[in-house]
Amino acid sequence: MGSLGLALPVGPTSPVFRRRSPRPYRMNNFGGVDWASMQPRLFFVSKVLLVVLLTAICMRALRQSPSFTGLSKFATHERGVTHVLVTGGAGFIGSHAALRLLEDGHRVTIVDNLSRGNMGAVEQLQALFPEPGRLQFIYCDLGDSKRVNEIFKENAIDAVMHFAAIAYVSESMVDPLRYYHNITFNTLTVLEAMKTYGVKKLIYSSTCATYGEPEMMPITETTPQVPINPYGKAKKMSEDLIQDFAKNSDFSVMILRYFNVIGSDPKGRLGEAPRPELRKHARISGACFDAAMGIIPGIQVRGSDYNTTDGTCIRDYIHVTDLVDAHVKALEKAKRAEVSVYNVGTGKGSSVKEFVEACKFATGVNVTVTILDRRPGDYAEVYSDPSKIRRELNWVAQHLDLESSLSDAWRWRKQHPNGYSVAMI
Ligand SMILES: NC(=O)c1ccc[n+]([C@@H]2O[C@H](COP(=O)([O-])OP(=O)(O)OC[C@H]3O[C@@H](n4cnc5c(N)ncnc54)[C@H](O)[C@@H]3O)[C@@H](O)[C@H]2O)c1
Repeated sequence: MGSLGLALPVGPTSPVFRRRSPRPYRMNNFGGVDWASMQPRLFFVSKVLLVVLLTAICMRALRQSPSFTGLSKFATHERGVTHVLVTGGAGFIGSHAALRLLEDGHRVTIVDNLSRGNMGAVEQLQALFPEPGRLQFIYCDLGDSKRVNEIFKENAIDAVMHFAAIAYVSESMVDPLRYYHNITFNTLTVLEAMKTYGVKKLIYSSTCATYGEPEMMPITETTPQVPINPYGKAKKMSEDLIQDFAKNSDFSVMILRYFNVIGSDPKGRLGEAPRPELRKHARISGACFDAAMGIIPGIQVRGSDYNTTDGTCIRDYIHVTDLVDAHVKALEKAKRAEVSVYNVGTGKGSSVKEFVEACKFATGVNVTVTILDRRPGDYAEVYSDPSKIRRELNWVAQHLDLESSLSDAWRWRKQHPNGYSVAMI
């Protein structure tokens, strides 16, 4: 009171103590109830009853809603809907895969620690698929096995697409333990959680880096795997542990060994936005675009004395949309108690020099090129034989023109010079 500067008198006669005495029901001359005087009370009672009724209706509706019972759509299996856990779904390939799965009517849970991916990609997907039960994002580091297990416990997952990984060959040469932990250890964690919670379908992101530098080209799935850098070795170890586990289980596993992934969603909804701090490890398309935008002075080509047609390395460049299509086919055709391995590439090699020319065409910028020494851990020539995936999954790469694939990626990049943070349309 004092704080308000008011001094109210307190005592039996003060307004604080004074109370209106309740008005008794008046009896009329015939000894009956005076209904007129009862009207306010009846009105009050009916109002209370109405509130009670409405509350009961709301409670019943709430009880039946999945969120009240803790059973969100993500926590219940639904006939005809495949709930796919996409690890690394905030990253380049994972976000494109999530987009395709959502377009196909699947339910998607993205798990990512955002160490390399972009929340902007997830927000874009959420904007495209805002309906309840379509897409949820869970922030989690796969190294946290307790949290990973909780995610499997709380969600009714039908299949896992395991993209999450750090994935730069040169970085793996400098910091190998980080790679073994992030790739091999985390795959083991995911696999153990799948086993515990009975999730029996896995599509695993592997890489042509597991083959090392084979003597024979093209690379088939039976080409011996002799990786020569920690990134390739960590992926090969993950493949091995998946294979060993699956031998005595009824798991359906598809191991996809990607070649070099380029391009972006042709409709411009998603793109590739690596972190600026990773520029020094950048993949060739990122470096070309950075050079075309004037962010870096030019492109550095590492090695022009390889035993190839023009002395630069040869790679097999696969459009991300084609790659994602291979995942969808793998998901559809995964067979119980079987592990299948597929190369996902175009079957056609292009030299770094050809790639740079295609990049110049796509960007319209005559980027400066500097030739440097070879990069440790690089292989001269790598291209796939994709006949197995064509035969068994009916998958064929559709985007074979480098200039057109790079044009898709450049369009998005030009409109998003700062990645997902700012769009300039
Ligand atoms: N890009 C290529 O050319 C290529 C080629 C062959 C294989 N791959 C494989 O494809 C997969 C995806 O590659 P990308 O190019 O999209 O990479 P990316 O860096 O764009 O995406 C990887 C995602 O995984 C997340 N991640 C990393 N470690 C995590 C952890 N411990 N917990 C949770 N999330 C984590 C990152 O934040 C990121 O969003 C990787 O497994 C990679 O090895 C890529």
